[in-house]
Amino acid sequence: MDGLEKLRKKYLDLINKDNDQNSLENLRVTVLGKQGELSLKMRELGNMTPEERQATGPILNSLRDEVTNAFLKKKSTLENLILNERLKEEWIDLSLPSRKKPNGSIHPISQVTEEVSAIFAEMGFSVAEGPQIENDWYNFDALNIPPEHPARQEHDTFFLNRDGGDDRAPNVLRTHTSPVQIRHMLSNGAPCRIIAPGRVYRCDYDQTHTPMFHQLEGLAIGKDISMANLKGTLEEFCKKFFEVDELELRFRASHFPFTEPSAEVDLRCSWNDGKLEVGKGESWMEILGSGMVHPKVLKAGGIDPDQWQGFAFGMGIDRLAMLKYGIPDLRAFFDSDLRWLRHYGFSSLDQPNLHSGLSR
Ligand code: DAH
Repeated sequence: MDGLEKLRKKYLDLINKDNDQNSLENLRVTVLGKQGELSLKMRELGNMTPEERQATGPILNSLRDEVTNAFLKKKSTLENLILNERLKEEWIDLSLPSRKKPNGSIHPISQVTEEVSAIFAEMGFSVAEGPQIENDWYNFDALNIPPEHPARQEHDTFFLNRDGGDDRAPNVLRTHTSPVQIRHMLSNGAPCRIIAPGRVYRCDYDQTHTPMFHQLEGLAIGKDISMANLKGTLEEFCKKFFEVDELELRFRASHFPFTEPSAEVDLRCSWNDGKLEVGKGESWMEILGSGMVHPKVLKAGGIDPDQWQGFAFGMGIDRLAMLKYGIPDLRAFFDSDLRWLRHYGFSSLDQPNLHSGLSR
């Protein structure tokens, strides 16, 4: 008994004197840990006679509780002390002006993609997507561009390596958004009305070409969709996009493997001091390729060309952005130069919207 009372004094004394969190924890382990002094004492209870146990047990228990509480109390006292020290040293002057947070801006490509999507959405087109890594069937064959077709070379395709021994044709980085037509037809069938904006890749680099750029594909299929619908749709689009009431489009006969007939579309315009004016003038500017979807392409998309027909078009989003916002060099679009982004970027609070005028 006396021994226990001595222990009690000793522990409480040690706890009392200890003013360091780490050594207090070490002390706790030496007293109350699994091999701790007090724990071993508790274990001795097992070897006692029932009478001894009855006498010593409660005392040991209350000793353990008392010591445990003393540890807890001291621990929280020390924590409070440390906190108070910190509070004395660390303080914040709430009257100081806050740090400036730099505002990001919307990249012109994102802005134009939104504008274009808003315009076509109003005409009933929804947005479809496809992968940027394509297999050559979607990118070429299904679009009526067989392996020996010269268009395959013209596309300056990036090919992806296959593992050694895998002799399937290599996958490609899609060279245009047209494969989304096929994917959409196969998964959704006819009728349909979609646009597909996205990144495309070709091995080319100069003032008007970058190895990655953006296209917008359009596809409308129905029972009686004609070239006249194509013309009306594109006219409506150009008026809204360039924000002019009057405008003239010229359909120039052309050739694309995936459309028949095919037309390239030019916009009447003039250039004054390098600034583009759309709608009047003596110049024509090519803005897109288009045509009536080739029966073979419909078939590849699982659609019966005897029942359905439709139009398709494809345009460069980057080019649209350059024209509308007077941006001279395409390469700067992807340089991530903050000065350029601040100059040509758009405020994130201004959502493109037909009713407030798209660009504001
Ligand atoms: N895929 C063509 C290209 O990358 C653009 C194009 C032209 C898409 C005519 C079309 C189309 O859907 O009908 O140059």
